Amino acid sequence: MVFKTNTIYCGDCKKVLAQFPDESVDLIYVDPPFFSNKQYEVLWGDGYEKRAFEDRWKGGIENYIAWMEDKIKECHRVLKDIGSMYLHCDYHANAHLRILMDGVFGENNFRNEIIWCYGGGGIPKKDFPRKHDTIFRYVKDVRKFKKNGVFNKIYRPYGEWTKKHEPRRNLTAGGGKLNMERGIPINDWWSDLKSLTSYQKEWLGYPTQKPESLLERIINVSSNPTNIILDPMCGGGTTIAVAHKLGRQWIGIDVSPTACKLMVNRMRKLGVQISEKDIIGLPKTLEELKAMQPFEFQNWVCEKLLARASVRSTRDMGIDGWLIDGRPLQVKQSEKVGRNVIDNFETALRRAKKERGIIVAFSFSKGAYEEVARSKSHDGLAIELKTVKEILKEE
Ligand SMILES: C[S@@+](CC[C@H](N)C(=O)[O-])C[C@H]1O[C@@H](n2cnc3c(N)ncnc32)[C@H](O)[C@@H]1O
Repeated sequence: MVFKTNTIYCGDCKKVLAQFPDESVDLIYVDPPFFSNKQYEVLWGDGYEKRAFEDRWKGGIENYIAWMEDKIKECHRVLKDIGSMYLHCDYHANAHLRILMDGVFGENNFRNEIIWCYGGGGIPKKDFPRKHDTIFRYVKDVRKFKKNGVFNKIYRPYGEWTKKHEPRRNLTAGGGKLNMERGIPINDWWSDLKSLTSYQKEWLGYPTQKPESLLERIINVSSNPTNIILDPMCGGGTTIAVAHKLGRQWIGIDVSPTACKLMVNRMRKLGVQISEKDIIGLPKTLEELKAMQPFEFQNWVCEKLLARASVRSTRDMGIDGWLIDGRPLQVKQSEKVGRNVIDNFETALRRAKKERGIIVAFSFSKGAYEEVARSKSHDGLAIELKTVKEILKEE
């Protein structure tokens, strides 16, 4: 795997980063899946296409932190010695992640715990509403960073009291006169950046999508034009979209093929000449397809057959998608799919009042083919059995 900027990589970031040279990127922002035991499943804007991604951890916080550790170590290795890394998290795991980051980067290289405050959402009955995320900022080597690292200060206007009294009192700060025109450097708590809502133009429907304004701030402060920005868990591609807009080079990695394809669309809308073929590491072989997350595999099949994925209620009834010609589709990510699957699909077809349908799997047993023949002659049902190999051949 080559190290290439302005590129989207599909794969586990630990494995992708392992192929990158030491000290190759200037700034890393990472927003990992939180320790929340939730599985996100989202219906996208058009109301049909199903996108989903997993955020589920078995085995508790220790497993989560062990899972993160390898990835953080790779991030540390590929970061330039004057570079910075931002780790975005929340109350679920921030205490544990801070200790992990201190261990990998060294306590001295901790620079800020940024509190990003926002509103909206639910109000608990007997707790204070949890309305902030934590973003840890580390540098790789504080001595080198202080000499040559990038930190482009951002200023905010002085408060009303200062504005009113400064002209008469000649106020000072840090031994110098206040620069009223420039303002005062922003603090480590950010309450001026709104979280995303579904009616905003940049909203893609991705459940943990971050606002561009947040990434704009981070990238502007900690990098200069042409610097290389890496997001190893890039999701909907907020980081790389903003990096591109700000004239930086970018690298986005995500384990989800669905997310990677979404990023391609987002970047194309910004005028970047990129297509799905340019994604490095998209699953293409039988083995890779077998190893995919089930919902990703389903998305893959739907895309290849130009089908639309079902909403949850019909999927639970045994129909995973619908072909353009109206045929129900069932997807099985397994070998030697047997007679019982065909039986159940027949029931699903009858329930949906359809006489034709298609099942996709890696292979089918002899019994499955026999049952298809039987149901055609006895019940008048036309069920097509299609293997993944056949789909790959048709490409
Ligand atoms: C919280 S989301 C990132 C959202 C993103 N900041 C945005 O604004 O859209 C976390 C992402 O990490 C990805 N992910 C999970 N495990 C991964 C891994 N091992 N390697 C790379 N990406 C991973 C998920 O697929 C998901 O898209």
